[in-house]
Amino acid sequence: MEIIIQPTPEAASAIAARMIARLLREKSDAVLGLATGSTPLLLYRELVRRKLDWSRVTTFNLDEYVGLAPDHPASYHCFMWENLFRQVNIAESNVHIPDGLAGDIPGFCQRYEEQIRAAGGIDWQLLGIGTDGHIGFNEPTSSLASRTRIKTLTQQTRADNARFFGGETAVPQHVITMGIGTIMEARQVVLMAFGQDKARAVAEAVEGPITAMNPASILQLHPVARIVLDEPAATLLRKADYYRWVYDNKPDWQKA
Ligand code: F6R
Repeated sequence: MEIIIQPTPEAASAIAARMIARLLREKSDAVLGLATGSTPLLLYRELVRRKLDWSRVTTFNLDEYVGLAPDHPASYHCFMWENLFRQVNIAESNVHIPDGLAGDIPGFCQRYEEQIRAAGGIDWQLLGIGTDGHIGFNEPTSSLASRTRIKTLTQQTRADNARFFGGETAVPQHVITMGIGTIMEARQVVLMAFGQDKARAVAEAVEGPITAMNPASILQLHPVARIVLDEPAATLLRKADYYRWVYDNKPDWQKA
């Protein structure tokens, strides 16, 4: 795991944007795994500003709420088109987001996995982290080997996401999410977290035991996992000074 601590969300997002820009330069038909929520907003803004070529890029989003139509303002379809896809030259046929209205959810999830495989697998997977340690919507106690499937949100996550729905009761109870096993197959994974609210989940994921109680902790087993944080999200890391030293003393060729 590489832990990158930056003074602000802007600086952290710029680092993630540089990673994607470099990937798209080296592999113009890269397959990206993408996340929604508050955390990636600055990254997406920076990617739009950079005017990269997305014409051959394929994307797979982590998750979507069950029961929300793609044009629902709180759907992740809406989020992605508004904050990224509509502003870059991506082909609509290359965009994949779980279908919240799928009639046959297990069948849909199986096809989603097949589509990821048919695309050659995910090169670079972006993750946020829930205050309970979830990645995608793999809530605590999710199988660490899980594949794309339906999950039930915890009360904590529904409370955390109430801000997008104007109240907790309006937050759907179910979601379709890539599984932890699916996420772990991505060639590179970047988890971003900002703010003091994420500090405990981040510290447990990075420095605690690998446990289904904090799904993000599985990233300790990923061969190329980077955790990109702002200072408040790093406050509970016991070895923060060491991570800063390592990053500041990297050879230039290794820097993002
Ligand atoms: C979203 C997702 C979630 C969020 C997490 C953090 O696609 O998969 O895991 O990344 O809930 O959300 P924010 O960024 O809103 O704090």
